[in-house]
Amino acid sequence: MAETAFAGIRACVFDAYGTLFDFASAAAGCRDVLGDNADRLTALWRDKQLQYSWLRSLQGRHADFWQVTGEALDFALETLGLVRPRLRDRLMNLYLTLDAFPEIPEMLRRLKMAGLTTAILSNGAPAMLDAAVANAGIGDMLDAILSVEEVGTYKPHPKVYQLAVDRLGIDAGTILFLSSNGWDAHAASAFGMRVIWCNRYGQRRENLPGRPEHEIRTLAELPALLGA
Ligand code: LAC
Repeated sequence: MAETAFAGIRACVFDAYGTLFDFASAAAGCRDVLGDNADRLTALWRDKQLQYSWLRSLQGRHADFWQVTGEALDFALETLGLVRPRLRDRLMNLYLTLDAFPEIPEMLRRLKMAGLTTAILSNGAPAMLDAAVANAGIGDMLDAILSVEEVGTYKPHPKVYQLAVDRLGIDAGTILFLSSNGWDAHAASAFGMRVIWCNRYGQRRENLPGRPEHEIRTLAELPALLGA
């Protein structure tokens, strides 16, 4: 691998939802029923899903991400007046087959060609992650799919980032973590990983501990940064 600012990186660890997989594709797949409400539903569903994950972690009342995602969806559908027959089941099923962002397969292929270890580290329950990975056809380009279910709490608890260190068996400082969620990127940096924030949604930098050392707009920019 060529010398770059990221020399010494041995593994790229990716957040799943919003980073590899487009969570907006679930509501987009129900536009026949949702119409112009699809985008509003996506935003509220995602916000509630994350809030519930953080709140359950603070309360010490973990439930897996499938349950949290369903409970967040119920809140969002009721708030927006969108309770319709079979809509909940359709949306939840679509969450299992979210579209991967278009650059993902080629990006992973280049990292693997360069000899890097690749992994997912996600809030997602194992069955959710396995389904999304299989649907995207990227399983053979990932060395590990790590779910918070192994530690029983959600990001940004340091235990979650420690799981990647333990399972990959390498130092945090040799792991490059990539997330589109600013708060997740900051937390991984505060933990001790190297971090690039994939700022797909053009968000402002967070005022939180840690500091992503680089920002990109899509993961298509990643291989060149690693000389891959
Ligand atoms: C995940 C969420 C935070 O995949 O996007 O962990």
